[in-house]
Amino acid sequence: MSKSESYFSGEKYNLKAKKLGYRSRAAFKLIDINKKENILRKNLNIIDLGSAPGGWSQVISKELNGTGSIIAIDILDMPKIKDVKFIKSDLREFDQNKLNQPIDVVISDIAPNISGVRFIDDTNMIDLLEIELSIVDKTLVKGGNFLAKCFEGRSTEFLSKEINKRFKIIKRLKPDSSRKISKEIYLLGLNKN
Ligand SMILES: C[S@@+](CC[C@H](N)C(=O)[O-])C[C@H]1O[C@@H](n2cnc3c(N)ncnc32)[C@H](O)[C@@H]1O
Repeated sequence: MSKSESYFSGEKYNLKAKKLGYRSRAAFKLIDINKKENILRKNLNIIDLGSAPGGWSQVISKELNGTGSIIAIDILDMPKIKDVKFIKSDLREFDQNKLNQPIDVVISDIAPNISGVRFIDDTNMIDLLEIELSIVDKTLVKGGNFLAKCFEGRSTEFLSKEINKRFKIIKRLKPDSSRKISKEIYLLGLNKN
């Protein structure tokens, strides 16, 4: 895909997000993933890491429709979304003792600020993934699911290994709405041991 094709397909999702009232085009990545994997269901308790501006939390809130619970965390502010308990915090400083209920699904769209230096960006991504995994270890129930963003390369290798240790099934996902030129991919761990 050329850069201009990629721009137009990105613009298509921006317009669609505006039209449907989603705060970010990222919402369509979770919608695409959920269509295939059916990870968001009524009555589940879900954590959304790196939630701002709130596209994914909006998608979860719609799916749960007043059932279950949603906790969203981001270093940036996030305007209120129905049924979502938002915690403003840097994940690296977050007190995980605040998460004191069993969780069915942890999802994360967190990405560090990109420096452009591959080694630094991969290291920062892995540092965040380690924290995400400690939240998984602390809160996720047996049989629970974990979805996380990483970048092709070192952070994907790291996350694959860690998911394989903890989950029965691992899937590698690149939703249609994710820019083809972007190195981001999502790994899904299904059915925690
Ligand atoms: C791609 S955006 C998430 C978009 C979101 N899923 C949506 O649908 O609107 C990544 C988010 O990760 C957050 N983030 C990055 N580093 C973080 C950190 N250390 N602690 C908490 N949030 C962080 C950013 O502030 C940003 O809002």
